[in-house]
Amino acid sequence: MIDFHTHILPNLDDGARSIEEAHNLLKEAEKAGFDSVVYTPHFIEEYYETNVKEREVWLETFSRKFYDLDNIKTYLGSEIFLTNNIMNLLENAKASTINNTSYVLFELPMESEPEDLYEILYQLKKNKVVPILAHPERYPYIQKEPDIIYELIQEGVYMQSDYGSVIGENGNRAKRIINKMLENNLVHFLGTNAHRENTIYKKIPQILEILNGYIGEEKLYELTTKNPDLALHNKKINIREPIEIKLTLKEKVLMFFNR
Ligand SMILES: [Fe+2]
Repeated sequence: MIDFHTHILPNLDDGARSIEEAHNLLKEAEKAGFDSVVYTPHFIEEYYETNVKEREVWLETFSRKFYDLDNIKTYLGSEIFLTNNIMNLLENAKASTINNTSYVLFELPMESEPEDLYEILYQLKKNKVVPILAHPERYPYIQKEPDIIYELIQEGVYMQSDYGSVIGENGNRAKRIINKMLENNLVHFLGTNAHRENTIYKKIPQILEILNGYIGEEKLYELTTKNPDLALHNKKINIREPIEIKLTLKEKVLMFFNR
């Protein structure tokens, strides 16, 4: 299994706070069954701006320190807060793509959908950059109008959901949406989005069991291993036919009132 979204590289963002915590997180990841981890520190303009070169130095330093973790492979990426400057960030080696491939993990603001979202996606497409949206199930405006997910997939965006959402760690609404997404072939990658030790990794066995019961072994393999592996090697991912989410009136009401 490949953990596609983590904040383990220490002191670069709000993730791991020390080398020791990063080390413990990797040990936990290995114990939870991951053989690979993608480091995706935040890249938020004017806030978290460690550039590619600096991140590579950190990666090398930590890889040498964690000599006892030979069995876990690590890759570099970033989680880019979407900006209309994104191509500039990539071209000038500020933000990283996933393992130097064409795939880019991005996040959106929590409060509202950016007005120029589709324009930015067009820019990426024009430059052959393949966008992956981090945890779509967690944005309140997507929870209220989840058909955005289907529309974005039609625009060539892949979806990465957080393992924790499956058990309600990101609220009831996110849990409901991720269930719908799984049911409708709208998830392509899973990631822990791990920031702290003693949190999500301990719950992975329980979450995998739930997911296995819900979507079955084959689909689960695609989201945890096959698709992340294809992306890490810059190969094309053939997705399953996505189905639009149609909320019933009762579900819509719940989305408004039940966090
Ligand atoms: Fe994240």
